[in-house]
Amino acid sequence: QACPHYKFVVKEAPYTRLCSSKNILTVNGQFPGPTLYVNKGDTIVVDVYNRGNYNITIHWHGVKQPRNPWSDGPEYITQCPIQPGAKFRQKIIFTTEEGTLWWHAHSTWLRATVHGALIVYPKMGTSYPFPKPDVEIPIILGEWWQEDITQVYLDLERYGGLGVASDAYLINGQPGDLYPCSKPETLRLKIKRGLTYLLRIVNAILIDGLFFAIANHTITVVGSDAGYLKPFNRTFICISPGQTVDVLLEANQSPNHYYMAASVYTTVLPGSYNNSTTTAIVEYNGNYTPSSPPVFPYLPEYNDTEASVNFTASLRSLADKEYPIDVPMEINTHLFYTISLGSPCKNNSCPAGEQLRFIASVNNVSFLNPSIDILQAYYCCIQGVYGTNLPDFPQLFFDFTADYLPTEWEIPQLGTEVRVLDYNSTVELVFQATNLVKGSDHAMHLHGHSFYVVGLGLGNFDKDKDPLTYNLVDPPLQNTIHVPRDGWMAIRFKANNPGVWHMHCHIDRHMVWGMGTAFIVKDGEPPEAKMLPPPPDMPPC
Ligand code: C2O
Ligand code: CU
Repeated sequence: QACPHYKFVVKEAPYTRLCSSKNILTVNGQFPGPTLYVNKGDTIVVDVYNRGNYNITIHWHGVKQPRNPWSDGPEYITQCPIQPGAKFRQKIIFTTEEGTLWWHAHSTWLRATVHGALIVYPKMGTSYPFPKPDVEIPIILGEWWQEDITQVYLDLERYGGLGVASDAYLINGQPGDLYPCSKPETLRLKIKRGLTYLLRIVNAILIDGLFFAIANHTITVVGSDAGYLKPFNRTFICISPGQTVDVLLEANQSPNHYYMAASVYTTVLPGSYNNSTTTAIVEYNGNYTPSSPPVFPYLPEYNDTEASVNFTASLRSLADKEYPIDVPMEINTHLFYTISLGSPCKNNSCPAGEQLRFIASVNNVSFLNPSIDILQAYYCCIQGVYGTNLPDFPQLFFDFTADYLPTEWEIPQLGTEVRVLDYNSTVELVFQATNLVKGSDHAMHLHGHSFYVVGLGLGNFDKDKDPLTYNLVDPPLQNTIHVPRDGWMAIRFKANNPGVWHMHCHIDRHMVWGMGTAFIVKDGEPPEAKMLPPPPDMPPC
């Protein structure tokens, strides 16, 4: 039977926020973009028309796209960009995902305005593992940049710009009433006492993690990254860029107006975030005199690493009969990746032609985008586009999280290096954040697979002791996960999806600076373990 078809027209549209108007790039004129609703197991077709002025690609974040990397979307990894005036038909194959995902541009920084939610309902005739909510509401955490986003991107690429920050965070497109200019448009959610609301929260912000809370309400976390979780209660959550979190909100407080608010979580440059809180108002129905201003929730301090790490550590899969887990137990591929910031310049003196700027790396290799996509080069055996020498372990072992690290270690190699994996390899990958250039949090994301987060900690990973603390019983299944500053994270996955799959930090500043690579998962023997052929209309470079 025919798959549902959607039309995404990428085009400029005028929007006004913070009292200033400009054209922003949108899908179908909407910001945030359209929400797509599917059922688990569906396949849909999206025709993407580029009617804007920039090259663009669209990525279906968290959709595994079995054997079909052709529609995955990251530019120069699985496709060349769709040029202005061109069109590309993408086929999105949903299999095991169930819950909230999202789609976004995967080209320079265009995802700042080109993004939307992807809601994956259970299969027809089945339901959630929790009582059916009365109402479902997607909550998209985004941001507003007064400056043209392509200019921001170009400056960042050329001059570094650790301090770049947007002008406001947004909830469903609105900065909220802490910004006098935007007060009248503040998002208002009318709720009814006694009902339960499922909030499907997406962090679509380019750079930062966020804390999120609703005043006076304890929320129940039930899912993340389109996987269900053992429910747990919190007064606030922490959500990293790229991640999704599903929560239940019970309207069980006295009728009033309450703020829903999100504020920045960061461990770098607090100074650049004067306006770091966005609000919406949750309003109970009924006749009463609301407090004015509405009641404000508790949100942790911007640098509260403990709050953020605790939240991540609370995520547990259901791991029951109906929602079993499948954590690889025998590992045949051990990878240990340092994720570092750096600079090509030593003691502020730069090699000829280099600006003093930042750079980022995985195992000391800073990823350079090739000029044609890696998938095409792999499939058509085009030489010289990428190398397969990303080391499995850092070439330089040191005390990764020490306070003062020599600046010569901040200089990575540049290259387009990937890691080739045999079909069905069982992979354990430990990310180790380093304190080079004083370190940072990271939001590591893998395309084409979800992974189990089996361990996390602060400081240096200890290969003898830390594996003893792994959770192999009910680890969460994620596609994006927050790796704390000066901490480590161990993930496991089975490389059962043939293709080329991007792996990168979802803090886009770090990605631009080179914190990424790709996995090439080889074809397996049986025909159903081989990559599908490319569609006829792959965009040319
Ligand atoms: Cu949400 Cu590679 O991206
Ligand atoms: Cu990062």
